[in-house]
Amino acid sequence: MTDFRRRVAAAYDAETFRHEGHRLVDMLAEYLTQAERGEGPVLPWAAPAVNVDRFAAAFPEEPTGDFADLVARVLSGSNHLHHPRYAGHQVTAPVPLAALCDAVSSLLNNGMAVYEMGPVSTAMERNVLRWMAGRLGLPETTDGVLTSGGSAGNLTALLAARQAKAGYDAWNGGAHAGPPLTVLVPKSAHYSISRATRIMGWGEGGVTPVAVDDCFRLRPEALDTAMKTATLAGRKVIAVVASAGSTATGAFDPLEPVADFCERHGLWFHVDGAHGAAATLSPTYRHLVRGIDRADSVVWDAHKGLLMPALVTAVLFRDGSRSFEAFAQEASYLFHGEAEQPWSDVALRTLECTKEMMALKVYTCLSVLGTRLFSEAVTESYEQARRFARRLSAAGDFEVAVPPDCNILCFRHTPAHVPPAEWDALQARLRERLVTRGDFYLVQTKLPKGVYLRVTLINPLTTDADLDAMMEALRTAARR
Ligand SMILES: Cc1ncc(COP(=O)(O)O)c(C=O)c1O
Repeated sequence: MTDFRRRVAAAYDAETFRHEGHRLVDMLAEYLTQAERGEGPVLPWAAPAVNVDRFAAAFPEEPTGDFADLVARVLSGSNHLHHPRYAGHQVTAPVPLAALCDAVSSLLNNGMAVYEMGPVSTAMERNVLRWMAGRLGLPETTDGVLTSGGSAGNLTALLAARQAKAGYDAWNGGAHAGPPLTVLVPKSAHYSISRATRIMGWGEGGVTPVAVDDCFRLRPEALDTAMKTATLAGRKVIAVVASAGSTATGAFDPLEPVADFCERHGLWFHVDGAHGAAATLSPTYRHLVRGIDRADSVVWDAHKGLLMPALVTAVLFRDGSRSFEAFAQEASYLFHGEAEQPWSDVALRTLECTKEMMALKVYTCLSVLGTRLFSEAVTESYEQARRFARRLSAAGDFEVAVPPDCNILCFRHTPAHVPPAEWDALQARLRERLVTRGDFYLVQTKLPKGVYLRVTLINPLTTDADLDAMMEALRTAARR
C-alpha cells in the first residue's frame, strides 16, 4: 500500500468516523444543555483580529487527530443561538434534529444540480415547496426552487419578473436591449431588492421607492405617485415588491391593495416573505399575509420562520413555468436539451449549480417533529413580542418604536437622567455593553426618530423573564 492509499484509508475510515461522531454528538448535546440553561455568555466577545489569530492557518502536513479539541474551541468561541438571551438578528436557534440532517447531507453530498445527482433531495424539495405553496394558498400551478438565502431568492424572483414583463429579452439581449426598467419598492424593504436590481444592471433608478406609513408599512395610495415618478424618470415599471414583513421593524405591507394595483397595471407582484411568510402557519396571525396567494412570486426563508439552520429559502412562482425564465442557461454537459424542461433538474432554475440537499432538513423535521411545533413557534414568538412591547411601554423609561406586527421589536431606553439629545448615543453604548459582556445578544437599527435597540424573538427558548432581565440590564448599564 502506498503512503497515499494509507492516508486515504485513515481519512475515510468508517470506524474512526463512528468514534468521532459519537464523541461529537455527546459534545454537541452537552453544549446544547449548557446553552439552553443560559450558562456562560451569549456571545463570548473577541475582536476579529483575536479570532483570526486563534484560528490561524497553521495546517500540519500529517494528521493530528485533535478534532474534538478544535470543535471545543469552535463551540466556546461562537455566538450561542440556543442561549435564551439570544434575541438578535433573524437567525433562529435551529431544532437540533436539523443539524443531524446537515450531517447526512454533508456525507451524502448529493449535489442535486440535476435529478440523478440527488434523486431523494430533489423529490423532497418538490414536496416541501408544494407544502409551502399550499400553506400560502397558492394554486396548484405553483412551483419553484430552494436556494441559498433570501437575497438569492429575491434576485431569482426578480430575474423571472424581468423576463415576464420587460417586453424584451434582457437575459440574452442585456439590460440595455430595451427601455430601462424599475420596480416599485417600499422604503422599508430589505437591501437585497436594490442589490438584485443593480446586479441586473439597472443602476440606482432600478428601484423606485414607495412611501410607507408611520408603522413602516407600504402606503398603497403612494403607488400611483411612485409609478408617475418612475415614468417621468424614463423607466418602465415591471413589478411591485411588498414585504411580509420588513427587516428593521417587521412591518407587513398590506398585500391585497398591492395585488389590486398590480392587476390594474399588469405588473408582476413579488412578496418578500423571507422573514414573515411563516405567519401563514399561525391561525392567529395568518391574516398578516392576506393576499399573498395573489402574488406572482414569493420568497420564504425556512432559516428565519421555520426553525431551520441557514440556509434554506423557497422561491415560489404561482405560474411554475416562470421559474425556468430566471436563468435560461444552456449547458449541454449537464442538461440534455429535452423538449420539455424537466422540473427535476433544479439547477435550470437556481443561481447555484451544485447545491446542498437543502430540503432534507425541512422535510425531515416536518415529518418527524410534526407541523404543530412550527405553527405554534410562529404564534408564540409574535405574542411574546406583543407582551414585551406592552411591558416596555408600561415601564415609563422605555419607548417602543411601533407596535410589533411579528416577532421583531424596536425600542429604546429613555431614562430621565439622560437628555433626549443623547438617547441615540445611549442606545449604541448600551447595546455594546450588553453584547460585549455576553449578557444578551440584541442589535440596533436607525429609524427616522433615531437609534433603536432591536430584538428578533426568533429563539423559542427565550422566556418573558429573560426579556425582563434585559430591561433590568439596560437600566443598570445606563446608570453607569
Ligand atoms: C425581509 C428580508 N428579505 C431578505 C433578507 C435576506 O435574507 P438572507 O439573509 O437569507 O439572504 C432578509 C434578511 O434579513 C430579510 O429580512
